[in-house]
Amino acid sequence: MVDLAYSDPSLAALYDALNPWGPGDDFHLPLVMSARSVLDVGCGTGQLLRRAREAGHPGRLCGLDPAEAMLARARRRTDVAWVLGDLSTTAWEREFDLIVMTGHAFQVLLGDDELRTALAAVRTALADDGRFVFETRNPAARAWETWTPENAVEVTDADGAVVRVAHRVETPVTGDTVRFTTTFTGPGWERVGVSELRFLDVDPLDAFLTEAGLTVEERFGDWDRSPLAAHSPEIVTVARKR
Ligand SMILES: C[S@@+](CC[C@H](N)C(=O)[O-])C[C@H]1O[C@@H](n2cnc3c(N)ncnc32)[C@H](O)[C@@H]1O
Repeated sequence: MVDLAYSDPSLAALYDALNPWGPGDDFHLPLVMSARSVLDVGCGTGQLLRRAREAGHPGRLCGLDPAEAMLARARRRTDVAWVLGDLSTTAWEREFDLIVMTGHAFQVLLGDDELRTALAAVRTALADDGRFVFETRNPAARAWETWTPENAVEVTDADGAVVRVAHRVETPVTGDTVRFTTTFTGPGWERVGVSELRFLDVDPLDAFLTEAGLTVEERFGDWDRSPLAAHSPEIVTVARKR
C-alpha cells in the first residue's frame, strides 16, 4: 500500500520537516558507512543514503521505494541509485552487504504474504555475510495511543505557510494492525490521508525471520543499544543469512 502521505508531491515535500534526522539515523549511519554496498528499502526521500554519500561513502548506495513523489525528493542527489518499486519487483542476488529499513518502514508490510515475499527478497539480495537491519515499534509500548489530535504538530511548507498535522487512530485497535488518519490543515492545505501500520511482536517477528532463512544476531530495545525489555519503545533487529 502506498498511502497518500507518500504519493502526494506536496506531502512528500513536508516529509523531511516532519521527520528530521534523529537517533535512528545516527544508529544506521555508521553501519552504512562501514558496508561496501547498501540497499535502503523504503528509502523515502533518501535522507540516510544522501547523508552517507555526503560523508564520503565510496561504494554502492541504492534506495528502493514505491512512491515516486518520495523518490523525486531523493533524486536531488544523483550519485545514489534510486529505484522505484518494492521487494516484490526486484531481482537482486547476493549483491548487498547491508540492507536497511529505517523510519519504521518495515511496519508498512501488512499482510503475512507481503512480509514473507519481502523477507525472501531481502535474503536473496544479501551477500552471504550480509546483514539486514531494521526496527519496528514494540507493540507493548502502544505508541499509537499518543497519535491524537491533541498532539498535532505544525510545520512550515515551502511557501512559508504553517501546516498543522494531526493523527487520529481508528479505535478500537484489534489485532496487530493500526489504522489512522493524518489531517493536514493550513492556508492552501486540506488533505486527509489514511495509513495502516503493523505492530508485530517479537515472537511472530522472529518466526517470520526464521522462516525466511534469517537469524537474529543482535536485538536492541532502543537506539542507545539497550537490551529489548518488556516496554522498550523499539524492536531493533540486526539479522544475518542462515
Ligand atoms: C515512514 S517512511 C520511511 C522513509 C525513510 N526510510 C526514512 O527513514 O525517512 C516509509 C516509506 O516506505 C515506503 N513504502 C511503502 N510501501 C512500501 C513497500 N511495500 N516496500 C517498501 N517501501 C514501502 C513509503 O513510500 C515511504 O517512503
